[in-house]
Amino acid sequence: MKGLILSGGKGSRLYPLTYTSAKQLIPVANKPVLVRVIETIKEAGIDEIGIVINVGSRGDQIRNAIGNGSEFGVKVTYIVQEQPLGLAHAVKVSEDFLGDERFVMFLGDNVIEGGISPLIKQFADSTWNSQIVLTRVANPMQYGVADLAPDGSIRRLIEKPKDPPSDLALVGIYMFDASIHKATHAIKPSWRGELEITDAIQWLVDQGMSVHPYVHKGWWIDTGKKEDMIEANNMVLEELDHQIHGYVDRDSTIGRRVTIEQGAEIINSVVRGPTIIGKNTRIINSYIGPYTSIFHDCVIENSEIEHSMMLENGSVHNIEGRIQDSLIGRNVIIRKSPIRPKAHKFTLGDNSKLGLL
Ligand code: TTP
Repeated sequence: MKGLILSGGKGSRLYPLTYTSAKQLIPVANKPVLVRVIETIKEAGIDEIGIVINVGSRGDQIRNAIGNGSEFGVKVTYIVQEQPLGLAHAVKVSEDFLGDERFVMFLGDNVIEGGISPLIKQFADSTWNSQIVLTRVANPMQYGVADLAPDGSIRRLIEKPKDPPSDLALVGIYMFDASIHKATHAIKPSWRGELEITDAIQWLVDQGMSVHPYVHKGWWIDTGKKEDMIEANNMVLEELDHQIHGYVDRDSTIGRRVTIEQGAEIINSVVRGPTIIGKNTRIINSYIGPYTSIFHDCVIENSEIEHSMMLENGSVHNIEGRIQDSLIGRNVIIRKSPIRPKAHKFTLGDNSKLGLL
């Protein structure tokens, strides 16, 4: 069995971060979402993985971060999708890589609670044409939704239904045999111009093929928007152990479930978990509250931050109000300006969002 990870797409709901960064590389609890996906596939015993990427810099970033996969014990092949024309289109462009093999497909921006690997192994040994993973959601109108018959088989799949027939949404994990390739050739683009994976699976159902639904009971988060990214961060932080590998001075207080990575320094500060402080990051005279991930090489000085994510090489200096519910990109500097006039002064990328007191 092979693995296919979709890491192309536009990522427009995460602008401006995704103008320059691939969203699949945003670290959740200091580990990129894409690395979490690779580890899950590897855990299922699969070591040949195709990664679908964009043309251009975001695709290149993924190549640079993951390389040939040897660091993760897998062999990675990159498949360039010229334009993000839909999930089924991504399967279509991967046809040569996949050949006749059964495969598991993951969306590269989804985070799921562990324990899914046995399910993938089970599909490898089955005769089903496909297995899809469903989970109950509060807002089915925003997802691909499954309508199940009383015997539990799939009657219909509908993409973002106005009038949802159930609350069972398709999680971003799909398993297929080679019959999916016939489906991706048979279907037509939807009203939004994309080849939809729901239409391809519906085609399998309509041909009388066996599509097995599995209802996942744990949590699952599609990290498409900032709020979802922070929620995924919360969920993963909950699972981390207390581990101190960095330096904590005598004047600091470290609460429960805090991970401090190598080379990090906590000076005269309070850190409450669940929280992770990345490699070589310095926290000085500051408060880091629960559900916060500060990535590598950051500095937080005379400031307070909680329930937030900060990516690499950022710094916060002398900020009076507490920073909360924030997703702060790479190399961002937030500081109290010493230069007159006393005013808010910004350099913000297109589509930035700023919440002032
Ligand atoms: P989406 O989140 O549905 O799309 P997107 O990444 O373009 O984001 P937005 O809606 O905010 O513009 O994509 C799910 C995953 O699939 C994500 O990892 C990107 C990937 N993908 C592809 O690889 N190719 C595609 O054609 C599409 C649409 C998505």
